[in-house]
Parts: sequence; structure tokens; C-alpha cells
Amino acid sequence: MKNRHGFPENFLWGGAVAANQCEGAWNEDGKGMVLAEIDHNTQGDTKGLAFPVRDASYLAYYKNNTEMYFPKRHGVDFYHTYKEDLALLKEMGFKCFRTSINWARIFPNGDDAQPNAKGVEFYDNLIAEIRANGMEPVITISHYELPVDLVERVGGWHNKAFNDAFIRYAKFVVERWHAQVKYWVVINQINLSEIMPFEALGIWQEEGHNLWQDYYQAIHHQLVACAEVKKFAKQYPDCMIGTMNADMGAYAKTSDPDDVVATLKHNRMNYFYTDVAFRGAYPGYMLRYFEENDIHLEISEEEECLLAENTLDFCGISYYFSLCKDKTCTIRQESTVENPYLKASAWGWAIDPKGFYNCISQYYDRYEVPIFILENGFGAHDTVENGEIHDPYRVDYLKQHIEQMREAVKDGAEVLGYCMWSPFDIVSASSSQMSKRYGFIYVDYDDLGQGTGERIRKDSFYWYQKVIESNGENLD
Ligand code: BG6
Repeated sequence: MKNRHGFPENFLWGGAVAANQCEGAWNEDGKGMVLAEIDHNTQGDTKGLAFPVRDASYLAYYKNNTEMYFPKRHGVDFYHTYKEDLALLKEMGFKCFRTSINWARIFPNGDDAQPNAKGVEFYDNLIAEIRANGMEPVITISHYELPVDLVERVGGWHNKAFNDAFIRYAKFVVERWHAQVKYWVVINQINLSEIMPFEALGIWQEEGHNLWQDYYQAIHHQLVACAEVKKFAKQYPDCMIGTMNADMGAYAKTSDPDDVVATLKHNRMNYFYTDVAFRGAYPGYMLRYFEENDIHLEISEEEECLLAENTLDFCGISYYFSLCKDKTCTIRQESTVENPYLKASAWGWAIDPKGFYNCISQYYDRYEVPIFILENGFGAHDTVENGEIHDPYRVDYLKQHIEQMREAVKDGAEVLGYCMWSPFDIVSASSSQMSKRYGFIYVDYDDLGQGTGERIRKDSFYWYQKVIESNGENLD
């Protein structure tokens, strides 16, 4: 037996993006529209996760709006600049690169009889280029790229027909790229749909209707889809199929047992998704919750067997902040209290490196499956001074988080890799701003898409280069 003193030699250092936030080219080469492309800038509201109420009429209105600026239709033009961008990541020494496939590039309406050849060709080229630059591709099959046409025709993910279309698309991409892609993430942050049911699931609150009924039916379908993909991928033994949670772990605000129990109940609601993925069955606390909240899911015996026989291979995690709860809070993610020990980013996200150690340890101790850090990063306003960007705040954040990840690794947690979010600036998922920047590489666009698109290396670029070169030993 050997102690782990640091990161293993084959540790996958890299970064992550999502197609809908960077590719742009939203209506090129036969692509269909996806829900994210009607998101618009929540300017003036830079605090928290600012999602206004979104429903069918919102969708109908904005999808045909040609006057407003919809940032995710343009991204940072990665569709055309991917070669140049990947070359910069190679320069930093990236060992892996995570991105998503945009469903509507492959099947523009979600369930077309034939795949769109141009869309397939784009991902053939992109995946080949990632590999040619010495990086392991990590591919997300669904990252808020729900085809609008499918949502309008069959309804959201709570409809079985929607899930059937997704499974067909997912199997298509795994079959096509199994030889080039080892790591697959079926659904981005499966637990986070709770705060964004429209973007992630195509569902919304209707009067007199229990949203949570649709929500958990949609989640059940996603859990089934993950198991279906795993079952399908068994013919490709090199492929690893993962699930992914956004860590929404909370601390109890005090040792008052009522605060502690309220926190436990919240935390369980977040582990539910990974409990099913790794234990292969619905936990008792969830069945009780359904019963007491008038939620009646359609779950067939066949699906129960599928879940039991196809548990997943790795646990993907994104971590940005921690939450804090007391007895006044509900089990929902948005119901939190301030943690007096932590400072927050300009967007109100509590900065908590030790929470990262806590998060990795909790997941590893609970399931003992490989962990893959699929996102961690710091959104900030950057300023360009004489063509340079000095971003010590980003380096500080990442350094402290990597240190804590190393602590978890020293405890024995098996961590496959670390994808910082996002190596080059892209459009923010929650606020659709460009000015919430995460990158090591500055991209010259503003919130309204004005700019040259020029890529500029920030100070943090050179810092991460050293981190990778030293396999996480040199963090200064
Ligand atoms: C994760 C998402 O929740 O957080 C990404 O998977 C997102 O899509 C990232 O971009 C950072 O959040 P935001 O809202 O600051 O872009």
C-alpha cells in the first residue's frame, strides 16, 4: 500500500466550455435553434443566478425576435476559431479539453430522420483537432442545448418522447466518436435544473399544476437516459460514462440540531441524483418525499432494472461556491443564508476553497468511484491595460482550490482530472454576460457582442502553464 503525496502522473489538467456558450454560428450549416439561444443579457442584474420566469409564451416571443442581442447565438465564434483557441490551450500544456456537442447541430429538430452531415463534420473536425493538440476530449452530450422545435412539438423532458429522442441522439454520438472519446458526461449538472427548469428541461410552472411533478419525471427520464447510454457503451470497453452534479452542498449555520437536520435534508436532495447513478436505485428518503408531496412518477420495472444494472463509471463535479442553511430554509437550492466566514465574488458566489476539499471528500467517501472535476473557476471583471490583463484574483482563487483538491487526493480520493471553467472567456450561462469572465485567455467582445474577438493571454495563462508543467506542485 502506498500513500498518495500528490497528483498522479496521468492527471488530466485542462479546462471546460459548453457549445452554446462559445460556438456561436447558431444558424449555420443546417443547425436548429436551442433554448439557450433565446437567453438575453440580464444587464444591471449582476447578483446571483438571475433567471426570470420563462415559459411557452416567452419562448414563442423571443425565438422570433430579431432586434435584441442574444449572446449565445454568437458565443465567441469558437465554431470558426477553434483551431486557434485549441493551439493556445496546447501552449498551456492542456491534457484534456471538455466541451459539449450541440444536439441541434446533429439533429436540428431533435428527432430528424437523418443526422445533419455538416454538424457531424464539424464535430469530426473538432474532436480530431483536440486530439491532434495532445488533449483527451471530454464530451458532454447535453449542456442546455435543447432543440426548440422538439420542445414545442412534444413538450419538455418530462415527456417520454423527448427522452427517446435524446437517447437516440446520445447513442448516435457515442457510436460515432467512441474511438476518439473516452470520457462522456451524459447530462451537465443534472441536479442544477432545479433552479433552471426551462433551460435544462424545457418545463415551466403552469397555474394550478405541480411543477415538481414534471421536474422529477424529467429527472427520472434523464437518469434512465444515463443508464441507457452506459448500457449501450458497454460494447466499447474503453469508454467511461459519467454523471455530473454541480456541488450544492451546504453547511449548517449553527450546531442547533434543527439547523443540522434542515441541512442534511437539503444535502440529500442534491445527492439523490448521484445516489441513483451509483447505487442503481431510488433512495428511501426520496420515495418518502414523493409520497408526501403528491408526486407520482411513471417508473417501469424495466427502467428499475436498467438503473440497477447500469451504474455509472465516474462522478463529475462542478464546484464554484458553498451554501449555508438554517432551520428557516427549505430543501431548495435557492433557499440559503449568508455564511459569515466567507467573502463572495462580485456575483455573490461565496468563495470557499475548503468547501472544495469538503465536496470532493463527501462524494468520494459516499461512492468510492473516480471523481472528475469538470468545472471550477472564478468569474470576474477584467480590465485590459496596455494590451495586458493582470488577474491575481483569478490565480488566488484557483490556487487555493487546487491546493484543497490536492488535500483530498492525499487522503486517497481518486481524482481523474481538473477542468477549470472556462480557459477562454465565453458567455456566462446564468447572466448571458461576456463581462463575467473566467478565462486564462481574454476574448475581446463585450456584453453586446461588440469587439474584435481578439484573444489575449492573461497573467493567469502563464501561471496555469506552470501548474500543469509541475503536475500541480508549483502553485505560486
Ligand atoms: C456551470 C455551468 O453551472 O457554471 C456552466 O455548467 C456555467 O455552463 C458555469 O457557465 C459558470 O456559471 P456562469 O453562470 O457564471 O456562467
